[in-house]
Amino acid sequence: MTGLDFQLALAIGLFVLAAVFAYFVFASFLFGAGYQPTPRRSVETMLRYAEVGPRDTLYDLGAGTGAIVFRAARIYRARVIGVEVEPIRYVILVLRRSFGPFSDRITLRRGNLFRLDLHDATVVTAFLWPGAMARLRPKFESELPPGARVVSHCHRVPGWTAERYDSKTDVYLYRWPDAIAPVTEGGT
Ligand SMILES: C[S@@+](CC[C@H](N)C(=O)[O-])C[C@H]1O[C@@H](n2cnc3c(N)ncnc32)[C@H](O)[C@@H]1O
Repeated sequence: MTGLDFQLALAIGLFVLAAVFAYFVFASFLFGAGYQPTPRRSVETMLRYAEVGPRDTLYDLGAGTGAIVFRAARIYRARVIGVEVEPIRYVILVLRRSFGPFSDRITLRRGNLFRLDLHDATVVTAFLWPGAMARLRPKFESELPPGARVVSHCHRVPGWTAERYDSKTDVYLYRWPDAIAPVTEGGT
């Protein structure tokens, strides 16, 4: 291989790497949010606020690489369903599940979260963009069973009243259907 061939191969390699990275981060922008793992402290607030426990069925809408999924299953012992649209992240989720404990508690779905049926959800977690949260609102209202808790990092469910909000970790807790009850003092 000449010096020129090597430079060309290196350039192609770097281009492919950059393309894969850009795809990994930006592809799901089209669906509702790009990729950014929920910070550990926010995950803890979400799971504590929702009082997640072994009797819960938790849906993580846009599961990413599993920051919420694996913590909810391993530490809080919930049955967890994680849905992720982006294939590389989905493969990472499947690999993490295969090599970790409590895999029987974790169901993974590759696809669009807006097509998921939430009728058996007791807890829903989300770290999605405002537009996706707005699209989710009518879905929550028609599918969630009474008493279900929705916890969201960063963005609120528009038009709903939060039961709690933690400004340090930017986490909103909603309880369905109280979230659409007339606003009480202290509601967010
Ligand atoms: C900000 S990340 C949050 C990841 C994860 N929940 C966590 O806590 O680490 C949002 C994730 O939602 C995924 N996503 C965006 N729109 C989606 C859709 N319509 N259906 C399924 N997943 C989606 C993205 O691919 C991305 O991995």
